[in-house]
Amino acid sequence: MDCFWIWITLTTAFCLTQVDSSHYSHSHREHHTIPEFIEPIKNVTIPAGRDAILACLVKDLGKNKVGWLKSSDQTVLALEDKVVTHNSRITIIIEDASTWKLKIKQVKESDRGCYMCQINTSPMKKQIGCVEIQVPPDIKNDDSSADMAVLEGEDATLSCRATGNPPPRIIWKREDGEMIYMRKAIMRDMIKTESFNGTTLKLLKVERKQMGPYMCIATNDVPPTVSKRMSLIVQFAPMVRAPSQLLGAPYGSDVTLKCQIEASPMPVSYWLRANEQPSKASHSSQEKSTPSSSYSSYGGFGGALQSNSGDSFNLQHSEMLLDGPKYAITETHNGYKASMVLIVRNFSKPDDGSYYCVSTNSLGRAEGAIRLYEIKLPSTTVSNSFRNSANNKGPNLNNLHPSSILLFLAAYIVEMMKTTPLPR
Ligand SMILES: *[C@@H]1O[C@H](CO)[C@@H](O)[C@H](O)[C@H]1NC(C)=O
Ligand SMILES: *[C@@H]1O[C@H](CO)[C@@H](O)[C@H](O)[C@H]1NC(C)=O
Ligand SMILES: *[C@@H]1O[C@H](CO)[C@@H](O)[C@H](O)[C@H]1NC(C)=O
Repeated sequence: MDCFWIWITLTTAFCLTQVDSSHYSHSHREHHTIPEFIEPIKNVTIPAGRDAILACLVKDLGKNKVGWLKSSDQTVLALEDKVVTHNSRITIIIEDASTWKLKIKQVKESDRGCYMCQINTSPMKKQIGCVEIQVPPDIKNDDSSADMAVLEGEDATLSCRATGNPPPRIIWKREDGEMIYMRKAIMRDMIKTESFNGTTLKLLKVERKQMGPYMCIATNDVPPTVSKRMSLIVQFAPMVRAPSQLLGAPYGSDVTLKCQIEASPMPVSYWLRANEQPSKASHSSQEKSTPSSSYSSYGGFGGALQSNSGDSFNLQHSEMLLDGPKYAITETHNGYKASMVLIVRNFSKPDDGSYYCVSTNSLGRAEGAIRLYEIKLPSTTVSNSFRNSANNKGPNLNNLHPSSILLFLAAYIVEMMKTTPLPR
């Protein structure tokens, strides 16, 4: 009510002074020139929170008065130096007879719009200046993707919506600095790019290499730039690879068996030792484990072991290996990749045979097989065995671990030097 009355009173006062002064100026036409605007009001574009100043420059004001109104609804804001509106952020700065400034402190989005500077001449003179409020970008969490998990081969859509003025642009990047891999179409190859522009990052038929932290960045040149991080988890059944499937080593040495794993979610992995001698006999005695059946149960561990070749092994007497004096077991992870290392200490006759690295997660399981056998030390007896191996059924060099080949070569050279003296 107070407000209303002040408004009425002042508006009336404004109109009255307008009538008064026009009358006045009419009667003194020869002494008084008509007020005029010196230049248009400069528009202001500023970020929210800063102060906006609109300057109305007038000459020959005489006894006339200057008022400010909000253009949209014609609300009177100020009359001369008196602020009429109930907005404590508005002040009037009169620098000299010709400079009338409307100052809006700490502008908000609601202050956006045009403001009218009026002179109460008859007819009334007016000009307008507009305030554009810039709003820094803000990412709308509810309308943007969060961390997500998809199966390998499915599509993944990451999206980000941001508000702000001017409307923000969205740029996608990998948060870890990796490249973004994406396909243009479902049957197309992956292309890689450092960044992608657009609100939606659609990844068709995702592959595991696309797994990782992504980030959408919203910018509209009004600081601060904001970003949102989201992880894309690509899930797939474990894959196991044993780089050396046949491993020869001399008794007494420590032998290192390695398996490489890819799996997501993170698998549970372990080593098994098969006591399957002779393997052929046990295989045929186990009727149900035909090569076509992918699953076979075996003592101690419900579930299955399937070799990479598709054969099911009979591992009824398999034994899970534990870290301890005999075996050193380590596992290192790097993203969806892991490597399993088993060190068999003091390799001796009972350790001959097959070892399996088994990896299992919610989507499946896989295992790799490594066969460990003895090779003779490069002593005199060893060199004999090497010589024999050339024509007999000795160890096949092709199947040897590289380090074993070196041992053989060393033994061979030693032997050659003994038997055939170097020419002088
Ligand atoms: C200020 O902005 C308004 C609305 O955008 C426009 O009509 C007017 O011409 C601008 N004035 C100046 C001086 O640029
Ligand atoms: C993405 O946006 C940035 C910044 O606006 C621009 O420099 C770049 O050229 C755009 N890239 C593409 C592929 O449109
Ligand atoms: C290694 O094993 C052999 C036979 O099993 C045993 O005689 C020998 O003492 C062991 N060596 C060490 C260092 O444990």
